[in-house]
Amino acid sequence: MSSATFVFIAWLITQVNCHAIELDENFHSLRDDGNWLVMFYAPWCGHCQRLHPTWDDVSRELSETEIKVGKLDATKYSDLAQELGIKGFPTIKFFKDSNSSFDHYGGRTTDAIIGFARRAQGPSLRTLHSPGHYKDAKRKHKLEVFFLLVTDNSDNEDGKLVMEKYKNISDEKVLEGYFYTGNSRIIPDDIKTKIQNYPQLIVYKDSSQYLYEGDLESMWKWINEERFLFFPKVDEISFYETTTSGKLVVLLAIDEDYDNYKEHLKLSNIARLVAWEKREKYHNYIALPFLLVYNASDGIYYLPDQAPLSMTKESFASFLEKVIAKEDIVGYGGYSFIQKVHRVIWNIYSTVKDIWDAQPILALVFFLLPTLLICFVCYNMCTMEESDEGTDEFEDEERVEGEEDKLR
Ligand SMILES: *[C@@H]1O[C@H](CO)[C@@H](O)[C@H](O)[C@H]1NC(C)=O
Ligand SMILES: *[C@@H]1O[C@H](CO)[C@@H](O)[C@H](O)[C@H]1NC(C)=O
Ligand SMILES: *[C@@H]1O[C@H](CO)[C@@H](O)[C@H](O)[C@H]1NC(C)=O
Repeated sequence: MSSATFVFIAWLITQVNCHAIELDENFHSLRDDGNWLVMFYAPWCGHCQRLHPTWDDVSRELSETEIKVGKLDATKYSDLAQELGIKGFPTIKFFKDSNSSFDHYGGRTTDAIIGFARRAQGPSLRTLHSPGHYKDAKRKHKLEVFFLLVTDNSDNEDGKLVMEKYKNISDEKVLEGYFYTGNSRIIPDDIKTKIQNYPQLIVYKDSSQYLYEGDLESMWKWINEERFLFFPKVDEISFYETTTSGKLVVLLAIDEDYDNYKEHLKLSNIARLVAWEKREKYHNYIALPFLLVYNASDGIYYLPDQAPLSMTKESFASFLEKVIAKEDIVGYGGYSFIQKVHRVIWNIYSTVKDIWDAQPILALVFFLLPTLLICFVCYNMCTMEESDEGTDEFEDEERVEGEEDKLR
């Protein structure tokens, strides 16, 4: 074989690897064969179209791993999609073994999706064997959150219970965090001096580490609260995730395409500082010039009474203070009937708009034509002279029913 052919084949192979595999009904039998990361899409869905380039990136990045990346047109193979429990578009799923799968609810960036796949692939709990491993983990998760349970050589019952509980939590939360264990000899001395009892649970985030001081009972709650960065960047999907922390969520929306993006960043830095410096006090999750505080349990949100861009560190903190005290501040939204109706209308509007943005002609066929048809029918019905045919039919039916009654 000439070297030119060889080069061509090599090129072909890399090209093939760059694109996600387009799956069909055969996925039924393929899924048993290892780990699959699959996007289920509909051709008309705008969010799906925006995801396709990302999906190719994901596929390229994972080409060297044991994870296979595919996509499936769920409208074309609707039976299979239904069987796999696909309800919306796009849906991202990870299929592990033949009997377990995970849904991705996080962000739709390449990094977020790859992170999801890596976590789902498991294992849920990894051991760091040396100071080198420890440093690697810190480097790898520099922009993320991870937990480490530090053990010593003693072999007591309490320690075993803590370990077991930690393992249980890591199994449950495998998608939501990274969990490690390691012997005390792998951690640096400055951290070791802070530890009084082993095993000691530590969370690493935002270039710092925090030691868990609670008991076995509250461990789940603590991990659930600590699994976010102080100031994570969220999108519409990962925002939902932050609401499951059981805490108030402070949301800051800024526009990256805005001319004065620097001004927006200034506010975002203030929020970040408050979240970080006043950690003990607020310890809430401040994300993405529009600013609100949202209570996920009653759906009520609070807005500051001054333009976010003119806020200082002091006024920002005092705004949070008012929200917590519920004094001198108005709450909006909530789960009242009117709010629910409002939301339904908004959802319909945004779905139609989404389809319109992606495929205007399809939207016309879907919505405008039926609307016109209905209007036409209504118009005809209203202008038509009343006939008594309908009344006759109605009477006939009543008579038949009456006779049946008698027979019974
Ligand atoms: C999947 O099923 C097989 C056999 O039914 C079982 O041995 C295996 O443990 C299961 N795997 C998972 C992850 O549940
Ligand atoms: C861990 O999970 C197992 C199985 O669900 C349960 O039996 C055990 O009590 C749990 N351990 C702890 C310490 O919570
Ligand atoms: C959030 O809403 C719940 C339910 O109404 C309420 O009990 C709780 O106090 C609220 N939290 C704050 C901090 O306002």
